[in-house]
Amino acid sequence: MTHRLFAPLLATALFVLAGTAFAERPPAPLTDTSSLPVLGDVWRDANPYRDDETIAAVGRTLYNETCSKCHGPDMNAKGHPAPPLRRLQRYCRKVQDAALKTRCLADVDHYFVTTVKQGKYILGVEHMPAWDGILKQEAVWAIKTYVDLRSR
Ligand code: HEC
Repeated sequence: MTHRLFAPLLATALFVLAGTAFAERPPAPLTDTSSLPVLGDVWRDANPYRDDETIAAVGRTLYNETCSKCHGPDMNAKGHPAPPLRRLQRYCRKVQDAALKTRCLADVDHYFVTTVKQGKYILGVEHMPAWDGILKQEAVWAIKTYVDLRSR
């Protein structure tokens, strides 16, 4: 490799590394979550708040405060960089068998929670920040409850 190629490559690599190391963590949301039933530190496998409209209202405020910048206000992703979260339940909605549907929704719950906790990093570039340690599970499940109820 000639040095003419090497220099810009090195600069890019350093830029990517610096971006990973110094990526600023987002602040914790200001939304009051004290009305949410306490779940503790052990993360549930499936949404314990499913179909609760009161909790979805808190979830909506949390969503608009922490996720809407990228996923669009009120989950309207048009013109925003991140995928619309409404689509996540698409397949489960079509499942007729009740037991299978429950398992399908639990699968999506698992994917949702894991993604939110770990964020999305591709080749060291942050596409979505990791929310672990910023959002408690109560907040994440409240957001999921909002997403579920608005995905129908
Ligand atoms: C800084 C922008 C940004 C913020 C803020 C953000 N996301 Fe994301 N999110 C993304 C991007 C970009 C992707 C797609 C990443 C990829 O697949 O490359 C994504 C993907 C996801 C996915 C996976 C979607 C799929 O179709 O597979 C979920 C779930 C998700 N985000 C939930 C959330 C939630 C919940 C919040 C708020 C707590 C949030 N995100 C905040 C940018 C963001």
